[in-house]
Amino acid sequence: MPRTPLCDLLSIRHPVVQAGMGIWRGLVTSPELVAAVSNAGGMGCLGGSGLTPKELRAAIRRVRELTSHPFGVDLIIPAALSTQDGTRADIREDIRRNHPRHFAFVEALYERHGVPRNPIDLELTWTPALTDAQANVVLEERVALLVIALGDPAALVPRAREAGIKVGGLVGSLGNLRRQIEADVDLVIAQGAEAGGHVGSVSTFPLLPQVVDAARGKPVLGAGGIADGRGVAAALALGAQGAWVGTAFLFAEEVQIHADHRAQLVQGRSEDFAATRIYTGKSARTFRNVIHAEWAAAGLEPLGMPHQKVLFEDFLHAARSVGRLDLISNPAGQIAGMLREVRPAAAILHDLVHGAEAQIEHLHACIR
Ligand SMILES: Cc1cc2nc3c(=O)[nH]c(=O)nc-3n(C[C@H](O)[C@H](O)[C@H](O)COP(=O)(O)O)c2cc1C
Repeated sequence: MPRTPLCDLLSIRHPVVQAGMGIWRGLVTSPELVAAVSNAGGMGCLGGSGLTPKELRAAIRRVRELTSHPFGVDLIIPAALSTQDGTRADIREDIRRNHPRHFAFVEALYERHGVPRNPIDLELTWTPALTDAQANVVLEERVALLVIALGDPAALVPRAREAGIKVGGLVGSLGNLRRQIEADVDLVIAQGAEAGGHVGSVSTFPLLPQVVDAARGKPVLGAGGIADGRGVAAALALGAQGAWVGTAFLFAEEVQIHADHRAQLVQGRSEDFAATRIYTGKSARTFRNVIHAEWAAAGLEPLGMPHQKVLFEDFLHAARSVGRLDLISNPAGQIAGMLREVRPAAAILHDLVHGAEAQIEHLHACIR
């Protein structure tokens, strides 16, 4: 696999970064996954958004026990919020009073699906109190790379630079890119709409070359739908210096995913992974389940962040605790339809890297 300048910027051998995936309190991007990818010459990245600051610090330290290679942390720091402060209890109460139809919709889910109530016992949710504390942990721990999704990294870039941390901005449109360039991030991740997790509306093929052209020379990683060497080679051909890969690493043995969700991933077709605003108020791609149809039938507009997340999270937690994985979010991208095998992360990275090399050689041979 050709080295690109991104390898020097991040001090890694191969220009493939395992994407931060922050759901289920860190179970997906476990320290074992992150370390395995970094040890194999790529860069692993903790999904920090679902962790309390204390859990995030512990996860970072655990990765350090497992690897001496650089790794990253991804945080979701939403630029637009429906409230700047308040605890989960405050937001629950606000929903009950001011959004009674939304409240009633979720209440009815418990009855209809026979799920006993079991509210989340954690007052923190996505407000600046949480995201500031998470960012402080990353700065204090001097992790090699901090990636910020959905937000404006302007305030963080100078502090990160002082701590010797590179900052990446994840974008799904040229509009998002402007904010990242103005904040002077070190690298940009252009994520197309076929990706898992939060998505914009433009697919990787049209998005990536436009971001490369508008990024003013900053290194760009392609993301969304990349799961083998052909995808990595295509991203390089579109002008990227590397790939940011999420869904393919969901098939790693080191990912602590529930067996029912793993089965959805292994058996699902590309069209089973659909974008919905149910879970956070922002469009996110996840395995389609019965709740999606029930929400669509209700005709409700999603609330903002973090209201919509608080609205659904108690139900998701309750359903998960009684093993009803069929009712809860299982984010993954459309490329899951191509993937069938669960393997060690190092083997997935090896195939991305050496598959790209083979594909590039194959292309040379084709055009000779
Ligand atoms: C299960 C899952 C959880 C994700 N969580 C986050 C997250 O917490 N923060 C973030 O920036 N992106 C998140 N993403 C998006 C990934 O970082 C990445 O951009 C995406 O997976 C790339 O596309 P692909 O899934 O087609 O590889 C998530 C994706 C998945 C599949």
